Amino acid sequence: MRKTVIILLSLLAFLPVRADEGMWLPALISQRIADMQAKGFRLTAEDIYSVNQASLKDAVVLFGSGCTAELVSDEGLLFTNHHCGYSFIQKHSSVEYDYLKDGFWALTRNEELPNPGLTVKFLERMEDVTAQVLKGYNPKKMDEEARLNIVRKNSEKLREAAVKDGNGLKASVEALYYGNQYFLFVFREYRDVRLVGAPPSSIGKFGGETDNWMWPRHTGDFSIFRIYAGKDNLPADYSEDNVPYRPKKSLKISLAGVREGDFTFVYGCPGSTREYVHSAEVDYIANVSDPEKIALRTTRLDIMKKYMSQSQAVRIQYSSKYAGVANAWKKWQGEAKGIRKMNTVAVKRRFEKDFEEWARGTQYEGITGQLANLYAARNPLYRAAEYYNETVRSIEKLQMASGRKVDPKDYYQPIDEETFVAMMKAFDGALDDSYKPEYFIEGRKKYADMERWKDAVFADSLEAKALATSLDEFYTKNLIPQVNALNRSINLANRTYMKAQMDYLRDKDFYPDANLTLRVAYGHVEGYSPSDAIYYKPVSTLKGIIEKDDPDIFDYNIPQELRDVYAAGGHDSQPVCFLATNHTSGGNSGSPVLNADGNLIGINFDRVWEGTMSDIVFDPEFCRNISIDVRYIVFIIKEIGHADYLLDEMTFVQ
Ligand code: ARG
Ligand code: ASP
Repeated sequence: MRKTVIILLSLLAFLPVRADEGMWLPALISQRIADMQAKGFRLTAEDIYSVNQASLKDAVVLFGSGCTAELVSDEGLLFTNHHCGYSFIQKHSSVEYDYLKDGFWALTRNEELPNPGLTVKFLERMEDVTAQVLKGYNPKKMDEEARLNIVRKNSEKLREAAVKDGNGLKASVEALYYGNQYFLFVFREYRDVRLVGAPPSSIGKFGGETDNWMWPRHTGDFSIFRIYAGKDNLPADYSEDNVPYRPKKSLKISLAGVREGDFTFVYGCPGSTREYVHSAEVDYIANVSDPEKIALRTTRLDIMKKYMSQSQAVRIQYSSKYAGVANAWKKWQGEAKGIRKMNTVAVKRRFEKDFEEWARGTQYEGITGQLANLYAARNPLYRAAEYYNETVRSIEKLQMASGRKVDPKDYYQPIDEETFVAMMKAFDGALDDSYKPEYFIEGRKKYADMERWKDAVFADSLEAKALATSLDEFYTKNLIPQVNALNRSINLANRTYMKAQMDYLRDKDFYPDANLTLRVAYGHVEGYSPSDAIYYKPVSTLKGIIEKDDPDIFDYNIPQELRDVYAAGGHDSQPVCFLATNHTSGGNSGSPVLNADGNLIGINFDRVWEGTMSDIVFDPEFCRNISIDVRYIVFIIKEIGHADYLLDEMTFVQ
């Protein structure tokens, strides 16, 4: 009997711990710390976030406008993703010095390359300012418009007070839970950030679009920068006299490796999620928006691909544009599929029904019906706006005619002409005439045929300008104001519905939807089974790169040097990437992935395709974040970059 109990208990101990949904505010992490510790974390809430002493938050920065990066030395050295540094690496590249192709390694501090416009932001503190932001607001007397004005004015005051001491201080007030709560975020922004190292794209972007959003993955998606400061260690404009920034905290690098089941957490800036929305919004996303946008982008990608495969020059011109279009295209496919697989619309409808039963007679009664009506009114308009974005606004000729910059160096007219015909046809076919400007309807009559219309637009810049202007004006002056007005009403209703859900599910811990503010997500290393009879192990290795290697396939053509290093032997089990159950989103790219002791084990860069619905609904069975193993970064720095001196300034632990 006792033996059975012991066997049962030890079996239980080896059952995988439930994966963790949630991206938590660092300042409130004490509410989660017991759970984190129960799952293996060995540090305290103060170690994660403190305003009184150096903590892990001081080693994490918002990199540029939409990525995360982390400090890995006491001399301001930063790790982020290759795809986050990409545009800066590209700007320094030329035919003679192609750093995208060949990689870049500064041999001395003097060779580190400045990047005008690139900034990093440290979070100094965050605090709940709900009462101050809503001071003067009277819900009984004021509408949403008046409330917005008060929020704006009060926030402005708070921001001004917060940055008074100057020196790179920046502040923002962010709404959480649809404005049920407001937080002030105070940052210190550094504006001299230099490029230190990047592997060749054949490593940093290995697998390209083919492997993007997928597992097994073997992308060496990292790049290295350094923050510079004035002699006082404070932010300064670029100057030769600036010195490497001395951080309050930098991360130690763990060489101990990852094993399935290990505790991990991700500290970074997820951009946007919608976990608490009404079934009508999810229905629209999964059954209208995603499928329609996917179809339109498939057409555009096919056109680009056709010309790119015919010419190396065109491939270079369009590879970055192609990547941009393909990235969301692929994500939406996983997202729509995941939402359907999880039956989220039906599950939410059921939830709304139960909720309304509970809400009867309360202030919340009828809120879900109200939301359903608002979405029914908004969705056709929103669909039209999305169509404009995906069709009209994908035509570079019309973009240029409306005065937006298109780099002529990266422009190939035959692609644009074919895109024009396909996208204008789709636009015309999908939308009711009430969503089109007069000028368009006349032009359709006049030319009768899209090919002829195209010839006219590409031959005559006045024709292009007239068409572009009429479409642009209809979009910005007619459509968007209507969408915005309805979105304001939806936001107001969502504020009530959010609060209602929190009242209804008293025992549930709610995390606020992502909004590019700093968050902590935690989970553990774990593989997954994407479909029947397949199980994906959580760690990939160099052996897998060699298996994929193919000089004839652009995405899989590795540098000869990597082949040679491998052939020399001993690197079969060199780890490359790993999977974990942390809840991440776009913006978490470049985020440090830390172990139970708060040491760096990887850099987050992606999610698996089958789990991309996590922005709307998290499924512990399929949602996995993908990280590059920090030991692969060390390996590439040594074996390919021959930049061992960079390792000298890092601290390694077992
Ligand atoms: N899917 C990742 C993210 O959403 C990586 C994107 C960059 N890589 C690429 N192959 N397009 O940003
Ligand atoms: N690749 C994304 C990024 O660039 C991360 C994600 O969506 O999981 O932020």
